[in-house]
Amino acid sequence: MLNKDIKKVLISQEEIVSRCEELGKQISEDYGKNEQPPLLVALLRGSVPFLAELIKHIDLNIQYDFMDVTSYAGTKSTGDIRILKDLDTYIEGMDILLVEDIVDTGRTLEAVRTLLKNKGAKTVRIVTLLSKPSRREVEVQVEYTGFEVPDEFVVGYGMDYDQKYRGLPYIGVLKDEIYQ
Ligand code: PRP
Repeated sequence: MLNKDIKKVLISQEEIVSRCEELGKQISEDYGKNEQPPLLVALLRGSVPFLAELIKHIDLNIQYDFMDVTSYAGTKSTGDIRILKDLDTYIEGMDILLVEDIVDTGRTLEAVRTLLKNKGAKTVRIVTLLSKPSRREVEVQVEYTGFEVPDEFVVGYGMDYDQKYRGLPYIGVLKDEIYQ
């Protein structure tokens, strides 16, 4: 049953699983020829459900690790990030696949990509469940995109409003009165 705060379902669970199958297949092909499988780096917290589905469809001996970053208060537009939880893995020479729930302005991913490159990662690619191209402020190359979505307030499948709705098994649009 639809959550009472949701206006409409934008992407169903079936569509997400099916797209994860396609992405997983593509990723398996692209990294299959490498000497070592990639390290998936998921950015907390929104990417967790997407990571959990995606890895079921990657036919490689991947490892995964987590990072948590936040923008410096009041300076979201600068793209400076503060690390709340760093990687546990030593990444020098590794192929990294960054896993995100959504690319919005692009600032977070661009900053994290630069950071991981500076730590000696061999390659850093990005896979995101959602992308809002109309919101982009910095150009960031996204190698794998699940779905492009319009600029609506989306929640579910990891994405929150005030830390709620992350557990919804679909991506929905929140009713206007909830966040106004
Ligand atoms: C969201 C999302 C990305 C970032 C995208 O994270 O998960 O990390 O914002 O925005 P950008 O492209 O404009 O940089 P959020 O800070 O909401 O944290 P969460 O994953 O814990 O919900």
